[in-house]
Amino acid sequence: MTGFSATVLTLYPEMFPGPLGASLSGKGLEKGIWSLETVQIRDFATDRHRSVDDTPAGGGPGMVLRADVVGRALDSVAADDRPRLLMSPRGRPLDQGRVRELAQAPGVVILCGRFEGVDERVIEGRGLSEVSIGDYVLSGGEIAATVVLDAIVRLLPGVMGKVSSGSEESFETGLLEYPHYTRPQVWEGRTIPEVLTSGDHGAVARWRHERAEEITRERRPDLWRAWRDARGTDPARK
Ligand code: ADE
Repeated sequence: MTGFSATVLTLYPEMFPGPLGASLSGKGLEKGIWSLETVQIRDFATDRHRSVDDTPAGGGPGMVLRADVVGRALDSVAADDRPRLLMSPRGRPLDQGRVRELAQAPGVVILCGRFEGVDERVIEGRGLSEVSIGDYVLSGGEIAATVVLDAIVRLLPGVMGKVSSGSEESFETGLLEYPHYTRPQVWEGRTIPEVLTSGDHGAVARWRHERAEEITRERRPDLWRAWRDARGTDPARK
């Protein structure tokens, strides 16, 4: 197997590749930089009705994905070194550090939850690592899996071209990004900040850094504190 290999287990394989088939990730798929395979969980049901879920033990609303069905679906996927994720609002929140780590792996296996949840025994028994994309509830893990894959794929060598280092992006430096401008020079009476057209590269870099600090301080005090603390312990950074 070459390239980054993604396998998504879902009840809705028709949701893939979806947006991942377009733009940079779509080109990456065509070029074979990464591959995407879906597994229909329902194919591993064994009863007449092909049921994949059942009522929660102990009562309560909703339905729970069955451990036996999900277990068989997972076991149908080649046992290799790929991390196995379960998309769930209960998971550890995704951040750029985790995305970078995942992009170093040979691929990922992603189980998309639906209904109220997945039987806890299969999460434990197959060592699934739960990942959340934010503190809100989606109707299923498919869109969350799409988000995770998009974030990973754009970091794969050969996908992003010139800007592939992404080293000045939000979350890569620890600060949010500075504002961007392009022609026209005047739009609806608003001008491009003079320093950006001055040709003074040092002044441009200082201006961008200051704006990045200011935006981070105002919008994300949590990131600002983390960045300041990290800088405090590393005298090499200014
Ligand atoms: N499934 C439903 N909501 C989710 C979320 N916020 N993150 C990951 N998977 C989910």
